[in-house]
Amino acid sequence: MASTPRSPVPLPTARWPSAEEAQASRLFAPGRLGPLATHERTWVPAMVPWRATAEGFVTPENLDWYGRFARGQPGVLVAEATGIRDIASGPLLRIGDDRFLDGMHRLVDRVRADSEGRTRFLLQLIDFLQVRRRPDPATYFARYWRPTREHGARLAAALADDAWRTASDADTRTLLAGAAPDVWEAVLTPREWRDLQHGYREEVGDTDLPHVAELPQVLPGLFADAAERARRAGFDGVELHFAHAYTMASFLSRTNDREDGYGGSRAGRVRLALEVLHAVRTRVGADYCVGTRFLGDDVIAGGSRVDDAAWYAVQFASSGMDFLSVSKGGRFEDAKQPRIGHAVYPYTGPSGHECMPTIRIDAAGPFGRNVPLAARIRRDVRAAGFETPVVTAGGLCTFDHAEGILARGEADYIASARQSLADPDWFLKMRQGDGATVRRCTFTNYCEGLDQMHKQVTCKLWDKLFDADDPTVACSDDGRRRLIAPDRNAGL
Ligand SMILES: Cc1cc2nc3c(=O)[nH]c(=O)nc-3n(C[C@H](O)[C@H](O)[C@H](O)COP(=O)(O)O)c2cc1C
Ligand code: SF4
Repeated sequence: MASTPRSPVPLPTARWPSAEEAQASRLFAPGRLGPLATHERTWVPAMVPWRATAEGFVTPENLDWYGRFARGQPGVLVAEATGIRDIASGPLLRIGDDRFLDGMHRLVDRVRADSEGRTRFLLQLIDFLQVRRRPDPATYFARYWRPTREHGARLAAALADDAWRTASDADTRTLLAGAAPDVWEAVLTPREWRDLQHGYREEVGDTDLPHVAELPQVLPGLFADAAERARRAGFDGVELHFAHAYTMASFLSRTNDREDGYGGSRAGRVRLALEVLHAVRTRVGADYCVGTRFLGDDVIAGGSRVDDAAWYAVQFASSGMDFLSVSKGGRFEDAKQPRIGHAVYPYTGPSGHECMPTIRIDAAGPFGRNVPLAARIRRDVRAAGFETPVVTAGGLCTFDHAEGILARGEADYIASARQSLADPDWFLKMRQGDGATVRRCTFTNYCEGLDQMHKQVTCKLWDKLFDADDPTVACSDDGRRRLIAPDRNAGL
């Protein structure tokens, strides 16, 4: 498991193939995702760039971002986690209403044109629950906290003063606002204590909240509506986001203790995911690509492990999922405490470090550390008689490593997020025997830090070629960074 910074692991040396070797490789051989044929086994997984409008519409910057990846002609490009509801979610794409279709159409046209039709373009569909910023204690006790008799009793015990049992709400709030943390911890419920320290966050087990209780009734329809819109917009398929910190992953997690038939046992935990898949499939038809990204391991204490994931994968495969993209961790439960006024970010704790591993994660390093999860899942899926392709990601950045994974049957597609961000042409360069010019990712997560701050995501390596006075280069809102990777041969 990941821990705090260690000495960095060196980047693996890379031997790049000739064009002829690439041509004959598994990596550049055609593949199939159910009804969807792909030109090769290369994959750029979802990455949120923070470039949509505040209302979730596609911007020219989104077009340039996806167009730039498309110029590198990956076999598959997955567009960022896109909200399926019609609710505000900051500058992240949304598809919760037909008014988003125009922009989505333009995005699809751009990727098709810029990849010369070689890249299959999928849309990742996401639902998430409410997360509030960490409050300052005065605001928390004045506005969010609800005093009860039990709180009064615990406060009286903590202060050894029975008068607090019957004190007014106003007096109790005022006292607690100025109290020491050990008093807060003694008086608050564990959940309230967490909300005060990390910010309020809804969980799938909060069935006392009507909108959380009815998620199983609401989500299949919302995912189906969104998938239908994606199809109308021209996307080649959808990826159901069942991974990381979000609603569907929380249903799948062993931590899901709902007692309404949608939690507890494995069958209960997978039930909503299968109902979502069924609703989506019924709506978009058998001839449309529908896959999922889910967790091979939650990493958090008490979460799902690869045994659960492999079991889910067989259920998904037998229910008609067209691909299984395996990720790891990225949960809220073990995230670092945010500063007051900031929201908890799910990639800051041990599970988050596993999701986007850096060269400091541990002695094993980030390079392919999630492959064993994909391999185990693929083995179980094949043993159950299904050919559903499995996608692996996490520190994959050299030809030999990628080709070895495919040759050993550990996965069917090779996904590279940060290496593709550092150099969107890297797959194409390898295919053309030009691997020596690949700009190699350093896996130090400058890009992830920008995501954490909700800033436009860029790569630190691009800025080596940044001239702020060049009017042809789009730059970030702060004027200090290139918004788009340099052209293929720039700076060579
Ligand atoms: C800036 C950034 C944004 C990301 N956004 C998403 C996302 O929207 N959906 C998702 O499933 N994963 C997201 N990821 C995770 C990546 O898809 C990938 O799983 C992870 O970075 C590990 O792969 P890599 O080592 O090839 O980068 C994001 C990663 C980064 C760096
Ligand atoms: S910012 Fe760093 S980790 Fe992110 S893509 Fe660039 S080199 Fe890789």
